[in-house]
Formats: sequence, structure tokens, C-alpha cells
Amino acid sequence: MSDLQKISLHSNNGMRAEFTNYGARLMSLFVPNLKGELVNVCLGFQEPEAYLSADEKYFGAIVGRYCNRIANASFELEGKTYQLAKNSDNHHLHGGLKAFHTVLWNIELITENAVKFSYYSPDGEEGYPGNVEVSIIYTLTDDELKIDIEAVSDRTTVLNVTAHPYFNLRGEGNGDILSHLLKIHADAYIPVDREVIPTGGINTVENTPFDFRDFHKIGDRIDEDFEQLIRGSGYDHNYVLNIDYPGFYFHAASVIEPVSRLKMDLFTTEPGLQFYSANWLSGADTGYQGKAYEKRSAFCLEPQHFPDSPNNQHFPSTVLHKGEIYRSKTAFKFSTESNV
Ligand code: BGC
Repeated sequence: MSDLQKISLHSNNGMRAEFTNYGARLMSLFVPNLKGELVNVCLGFQEPEAYLSADEKYFGAIVGRYCNRIANASFELEGKTYQLAKNSDNHHLHGGLKAFHTVLWNIELITENAVKFSYYSPDGEEGYPGNVEVSIIYTLTDDELKIDIEAVSDRTTVLNVTAHPYFNLRGEGNGDILSHLLKIHADAYIPVDREVIPTGGINTVENTPFDFRDFHKIGDRIDEDFEQLIRGSGYDHNYVLNIDYPGFYFHAASVIEPVSRLKMDLFTTEPGLQFYSANWLSGADTGYQGKAYEKRSAFCLEPQHFPDSPNNQHFPSTVLHKGEIYRSKTAFKFSTESNV
């Protein structure tokens, strides 16, 4: 691909972010620590070309049309069955083979702090109905990276788009994230079967290693003999956020890294949050500063609707009606904590 582009945003206090049109990806995110030094907290590569040869882990990508899993790669909508690509055993993962994460998006710099990526996904792409116009606006303020997603379809379809940055608040490539402290405002999570497909149930986090209602180290319970952890090879589950009403802009999670003392707060309008402890990174890729990305050297917190909603009518709907505007808003906010 010869049309790969890279673009940077800067904020007044020195925050810096780099993006590429390949998958509308966030390539790096530099935030100031307690001493004012910039730490790149996002796994990625220095050049867009590197993403083409990397092991596909959705590093920093926009994921769609349907992020996460759809069971048996099929769903029914308005009486019709749609067949999608099977790219995760018998199932569909993260929109398919040539999905939002691997297409070239149009880039438009809106201000020096904001960039808009847009993409036209034709009817039938990866098996989904409807021509879909989708745009992502990334805005860098003095302490936040904001992600605003909008889309519209000319036929009724399903849509569930997320951003897939991997974070390490000690700096990308600087060891594992097991001592990061995590808090998620969720009383429940979605259990999965042996193939990591939602069982259809909703489980309480109470008295389980999934309870992050108060801060816990990610690594404290990750290797416990608990069936859901074994099925996910660690954390790879969708949390049911304690939102007041659908679309409520909610403070969903916080993460603190005790060495850098960086804190990240996540706000979103989505009802679910996939917490993935990067169990499938293998050291195959060396990243931005040349260090290998090992298993659990990052965490992902992906705001989204629940996995496999098209096959679970009791989950919040992911149906996007013809002409209706899809809107999703997320912010990752950074600060420093002197007392950890
Ligand atoms: C999923 C994981 C998957 C990973 C791919 C995450 O969003 O939850 O199961 O392995 O993406 O890199």
C-alpha cells in the first residue's frame, strides 16, 4: 500500500499523539508524568508500514463493523440470515478480514488538536448489509484523548465500533501491566463459553476475581483457578457498566500505574467495556522503541456494546436503522497521582 499516511496532534501541555489512515489507528500517545517527562503509553510502531507486517493484534485500530465476537459468524436481521467471515475458529471477530482496522481511511485535519477519519463501507462488505458512512474524530486536549464516532447506513444493519489501543502506563514495552491498579464501575460481566462466546448470561462480579469495583492490581487474581479466567486465558471479558440510562456519558474505569504514577480515567457513552489483559501478545512484535511486546505487557479497555448482541435479543440492541445516526463517545483522561 503506497497511500499510507501519518499525522500528529499536539496539545498545549506537550501531549502528543500520532495516527495513521491505515485502520484510523492511534500509533502513539505521549503524556507527561509527575516529572513532566513524556511517556508513550500506547503500544504501536513508528511508521505506518510496520502495521502491515506486524502480527495482527489490532494495535490502536478502529474496529468494526462489529467489534468483538459474533457466534458462528452469522445473525438474523429482519427475517434474513447474514453470513460473515469466520476469522476466529468458527466465529467472527472484530469485523472480519478486511475490516475497519485494515482499510485506508480519508484523513482531514480539523484543527491542530483534532483529526477526522472517514470511511465509506459498501453494502455487503464483510457480509454486512447497508452502505455505511462512518467517521472518527480524535481530539487531543491538555489532558484527554477524545474519540467521537458517528455513522449512518442506508439500510437497517448492525453496528458496534470501538477503538482498540493497548496501554501500558509505565511506557510501551516497559514490562507487564500486572501491577497496574484497575477500577471498573461495573457490578456484572458477561461470562463466555469455551470458545469465548457469550453464554447469554450476565454474572455478578461479587466474590470473584472479576470484581474491580475497588482498585485491584490486574495481576493479583489473574492466574486464579476460576473457570472464566481460564476460558479467557486471563481477562478477556465484557463488563456491564453501571450506567443510569442508555447513552449516559459515564466514568467507566480508572487505572493507576504505581511507578510512573500516571492515572488514566475512561469515560464513555457505551454500555459495555471489554477488559482484555493482552493474553495473546507473544513477543512477536517489537514496538515503537524497539522492545518486544510480550504477553500481558498491556491492557485494553474497549468501550462497546456487548459481544454477540445480534444473537442475544436481551442485550442492548446494536441494530442501526436506516438513516438513524449512530453516535459513540469515549475519552481517555490522564493525570498524575502523588499518593499511590
Ligand atoms: C479481544 C481478544 C482478542 C484481541 C485481539 C480483543 O479485543 O477481546 O479476545 O484476542 O482483541 O487482539
